[in-house]
Amino acid sequence: MLDIKDLVVEHGNMRALFGMTLNVRQGERVALLGANGAGKSTTLGAIAGIYPPRSGSIRFKGTEIAGKPAAVNVVSGIAMVPEGRRLFTGMTVQENLELGAYAPSLRKGVQDRLEGIFDMFPILKEKRHQLSGELSGGQQQMVAIGRALMSKPDLLLLDEPFLGIAPVVVHLVMDALRKIAEGGVTVLLVEQNVHRAFEFAERGYVIEHGHVIMQGSAHDILDDPDFSAKFLGVDSEENQA
Ligand SMILES: Nc1ncnc2c1ncn2[C@@H]1O[C@H](COP(=O)(O)OP(=O)(O)OP(=O)(O)O)[C@@H](O)[C@H]1O
Ligand SMILES: [Mg+2]
Repeated sequence: MLDIKDLVVEHGNMRALFGMTLNVRQGERVALLGANGAGKSTTLGAIAGIYPPRSGSIRFKGTEIAGKPAAVNVVSGIAMVPEGRRLFTGMTVQENLELGAYAPSLRKGVQDRLEGIFDMFPILKEKRHQLSGELSGGQQQMVAIGRALMSKPDLLLLDEPFLGIAPVVVHLVMDALRKIAEGGVTVLLVEQNVHRAFEFAERGYVIEHGHVIMQGSAHDILDDPDFSAKFLGVDSEENQA
């Protein structure tokens, strides 16, 4: 469904991705792991159409989309829940949700989708006329996820959706994401907490300095001693003993 090849992205004159290659199949749940500054958000941003790549290819459902603007990609079926949620805090919950379906071609069925989101997150129905800036972090994350779903995505890009939300809410959001994936939405998740990432994802890519340095199933990655040493702070020799 998503085929990224040799992707190079620069922020101004600073290169962030140095030839990224990764793919996600229809219906998969894939995690993108890596330390701060590795290029995780840049990768999602390039897919969504926020950062036009310098070179390389991004194919989505067989069509080249590298360099296409975000507004076009949303209509094609790519939705992103950005790092830090990026809600319009001075607008109500419902207004924020409706913004996810602002494109004319996405308007059909808006009411049904809104109801679906309220079923998934009942608290949002209760607070639908409240300003989203008045919500807790977890509730704001629900709005950000709901807003993405309003565009009826085939591919959902999630950038650290659990960051800064209370533990009880983490479970709620995790359950919702699983339901979304079971409903047929393909998901690419950025998550720094490896164990949490693999509570959700079946497969992952580890990136460092804008390259993929490791990929495989949850087991492959968690069992790799180099990975443990680097990302879990475990001494690899001790680990093998
Ligand atoms: N808008 C920007 N302008 C300039 N440089 C940027 C911009 N966004 C990211 N960078 C730089 O690009 C590199 C990759 O950043 P990116 O945000 O993709 O990393 P990340 O893996 O998402 O990190 P984090 O875990 O901190 O969110 C970093 O060196 C970062 O400083
Ligand atoms: Mg990031």
